[in-house]
Amino acid sequence: GGTLGSAAARTGRYFGTAVSASKLSDSVYTGILSREFSMITAENEMKIDATEPSQNQFSYANADRIVNQATSQGARLRGHTLAWHQQQPGWMQGMEGTALRQAMLNHVTQVATHYRGKIYAWDVVNEAFEDGGSGARRNSNLQRTGNDWIEAAFTAARAADPGAKLCYNDYNTDDWTHAKTQAVYRMVQDFKARGVPIDCVGFQSHFNPNSPVPSNYQTTLQNFANLGVDVQITELDIEGSGTAQANNFRTVTSACLAVSRCTGITVWGIRDTDSWRASGTPLLFDGNGQKKAAYTATLEAL
Ligand code: XIL
Repeated sequence: GGTLGSAAARTGRYFGTAVSASKLSDSVYTGILSREFSMITAENEMKIDATEPSQNQFSYANADRIVNQATSQGARLRGHTLAWHQQQPGWMQGMEGTALRQAMLNHVTQVATHYRGKIYAWDVVNEAFEDGGSGARRNSNLQRTGNDWIEAAFTAARAADPGAKLCYNDYNTDDWTHAKTQAVYRMVQDFKARGVPIDCVGFQSHFNPNSPVPSNYQTTLQNFANLGVDVQITELDIEGSGTAQANNFRTVTSACLAVSRCTGITVWGIRDTDSWRASGTPLLFDGNGQKKAAYTATLEAL
């Protein structure tokens, strides 16, 4: 019995969800949110385009609504995200070079300072590696400012909010044999060796038939944890339905529980109708807010 949050707390973990500020007036949504979840990630409201729509003009109203919801229900917050090639405001999209590097660092400093002391973990950098077999950094305006942009962002975030855990977050890094997984692993290993401030790695874990839960998922989480970082499942959703979907949620939850440094799981939305996936039913509650088999399997595995 119990709830996702209370079950996760029995082993010192959290269970979180992405939250959209525009849904906080929906009482079915907030009812499930406050009952079940002990960690909140703003689905879009802390992204660069939301918090700095004009250069050096910061906008926190929608994000702060989510912060207030977290406070009122006693949940913690994951900050998402300070530096990313997507959802950049127009003024940033066209920038390059030294001007962009300075603008990015200013953004990291200003936003992390605004939320100092309120964030459990920041996704400092999101999705910086390429898909496919190259293991290379993704070509982006941020990457073109120099290969050290990621460590510069982490160093700025540490200075601004020394109490927050600082994470690197990505997708398609769940399969240990994948070149992208290996490339992120080597970056984290290098950061730890050189004292770049990194505390955690987030695995988005958006799974579907083309990208299923890999059989070595727990191995991946454990191998990263063995580098001396915490790991979290940060944006979990799994396409499917019924028993097959429930079993996949059970597998993912059990993998986190088996890794002592896997400190929590966040699903990317509450009801299937809240999902960023336009079609499909990848979450734990149906469109009416009823618990699915995937919910029961997750709760049992916690
Ligand atoms: C998605 C949101 O869910 C959508 O509402 C938005 O339109 C696009 O971004 N990886 C991430 C998340 O790190 O920020 C993305 O969220 C999903 C993929």
